[in-house]
Amino acid sequence: MVARRLADESVQPAAFAFTAENAKWAEWKIGLYPTGRQQSAVIPLLMRAREQDGWVTRATIEKIADMLGMAYIRVLEVATFYTQFQLQPVGTKAHVQVCGTTPCMLRGAGELIEVCKSKIHHDPHHLNDDGTLSWEEVECAGACVNAPMVAIFRDTYEDLTPSRLEEIIDAFHAGKGDTIKPGTQIRAAQFCRRRWSHNATGNAERQAREVRAATAAGGCRSSCSRRTASTNDCCQAQGRDRQNPRLPLRARQKRPRSPRLRPKASARRPI
Ligand code: FES
Repeated sequence: MVARRLADESVQPAAFAFTAENAKWAEWKIGLYPTGRQQSAVIPLLMRAREQDGWVTRATIEKIADMLGMAYIRVLEVATFYTQFQLQPVGTKAHVQVCGTTPCMLRGAGELIEVCKSKIHHDPHHLNDDGTLSWEEVECAGACVNAPMVAIFRDTYEDLTPSRLEEIIDAFHAGKGDTIKPGTQIRAAQFCRRRWSHNATGNAERQAREVRAATAAGGCRSSCSRRTASTNDCCQAQGRDRQNPRLPLRARQKRPRSPRLRPKASARRPI
């Protein structure tokens, strides 16, 4: 993660203005907040400006600060804090944000970054040759459960492999980004195999693996079909001996629970 600064003056436009439609929307949005609390609209307005132009310029920040009666520095602080606000010109067809936080890094984010380097540009925040693609590394985007992932504008693409990311980048480059379904990129059959569900073969393999692990650990020896085989819970629940599921459990010694049934203090062994 690098320090987030405004783009070089050479690429900054002189002025910013919302389109007529967006200006009307901004007016409505600001009106939603109580008097004196209009500053709360800063994030929605920055987001709208980013969607309109692709990135947030110095002129955008100044314009929004004027609209909300805020100091320029306050809006700059917000814009530089969130990686959702791109501060440099981005690709017209896709800006790929690769999550590089620990869970994604452990699951192969480094290889995804290599793909971006080879297919887009060696350095982040640089446009490819025809100006249609760009990329950057960002912090956690909140989809860690399906790491590794990338975000492209408002959508996330998860459970990625390098080859799948190449396909996605190619699709966006060809203007067919809308043909890629956001979310997990594991196809149904793969998903069943990986998650061991809705797949008879997968379930059988999982069951055999659990029984092997349980046996090695001195636990349940039966080929229980229950998932709890490795913890013997299924046998315990059915009143079976944990080492030999065919035998019932030995009768437990009952402890007296009522104080009346407990041995008298005089009868207890002295400490
Ligand atoms: S660590 Fe990558 S999405 Fe959270």
